[in-house]
Amino acid sequence: MFPVEKFRNIPTPFYFYDVDLFRRTAQAALSEAQKYGYVVHYALKANANEKLLRLLSAAGFGADCVSGAEVQRAIDCGFPPQSIAFAGVGKRDDEICLGIDHRIFSFNCESEQELEVINELARAKGTVAQVALRINPNVDAHTHAHITTGLDENKFGVNLWQLTDVAKKVKQMSHLKLVCIHFHIGSQITELSPFAELCGKVNDIQEQLGQAGVTVEHVNVGGGLGVDYERPTENSIPEFAAYFALLNRHIKLRAGQTLHCELGRSIVAQCGSLITRCLYVKELQKKNFVVVDAGMTDLIRPALYGAYHKIENITPQNAEQKVYDVVGPICESSDTFDKDVALPQTLRGDLLAIRTAGAYGEVMASRYNLRPLPRAFFSDEL
Ligand code: LLP
Repeated sequence: MFPVEKFRNIPTPFYFYDVDLFRRTAQAALSEAQKYGYVVHYALKANANEKLLRLLSAAGFGADCVSGAEVQRAIDCGFPPQSIAFAGVGKRDDEICLGIDHRIFSFNCESEQELEVINELARAKGTVAQVALRINPNVDAHTHAHITTGLDENKFGVNLWQLTDVAKKVKQMSHLKLVCIHFHIGSQITELSPFAELCGKVNDIQEQLGQAGVTVEHVNVGGGLGVDYERPTENSIPEFAAYFALLNRHIKLRAGQTLHCELGRSIVAQCGSLITRCLYVKELQKKNFVVVDAGMTDLIRPALYGAYHKIENITPQNAEQKVYDVVGPICESSDTFDKDVALPQTLRGDLLAIRTAGAYGEVMASRYNLRPLPRAFFSDEL
């Protein structure tokens, strides 16, 4: 599946995106969502590559942004401002002003103080900003602790006990229009049951708010649909049909309400791989190491979360299998992509693909050790 011959002259490491798979994935997500009239905001934080963003905006996705720079990037890449949700627990004033000036769809607000600040900034500009209340529903997403966001102990959103109070206050703020309630329980959620639980909470919350005289036109259930890191080839397109059907089965929308979601990982993860070259093979008494030229600066997920990414030797050969630790060049033991990986005997110069790296890969790269940022190549441009 990889055009290995075409990779020969490209300096490694680099990200490779299978554009055909990307299009099919995006199309699958969109067509399943549209069956129910749902709106999908693509979460730019997963991958903000301009080419991919232009394809998504042209296909009809909205955008979910978490910084002023992401809002600007979304607009530059063709997303209509009215399709942009701007989330984040700490928005700076200049970032809020950018959103107000572009009349974005919603500021997803996380505290009373933030609402007051947006109200004042909108007042100063003589306009009204659309806001969503991000509500922390206290649902356990059963995923990695670093990417669980919907529990009471997390820093995100307005807690249930404050909710009615805060919602009533927003109604009083003359330069805000409350258009949406927003939720996000975590990322890389592979069982659908937490989403069903979330829907139940959303229904209760709508009931509670309704009794307090607060109704909204939109409900945003956030992102989080997981992907199969173990079997990227067999399971290259996530179960969008099951996800949207489950939302539809469990959520009770009021008349005229629109459901929104913010998918990131599930749209881009499988189409991207980090391509790296074997620099050295160290065969020691206890272990064999394959030292590659990509490091945690290019893909930090294994070092940061202990995340698994499937590794393949993509240089054609039929050597027998050996077991290796695949490590990067950086002087930290956490610079390890995986341990005890069975690969065909690997030699200096072989190319390896680290799979399912399209989401939270390129965007989380750093210049630690003054290493250059990895470049991106696309299957339809090679
Ligand atoms: N909406 C909100 C409010 C979010 O916080 C996130 C992700 C998303 C949507 C998109 O979630 P997705 O569909 O991609 O799961 N760097 C970590 C993931 C952090 C996710 C943060 N929030 C990783 O590499 O696993």
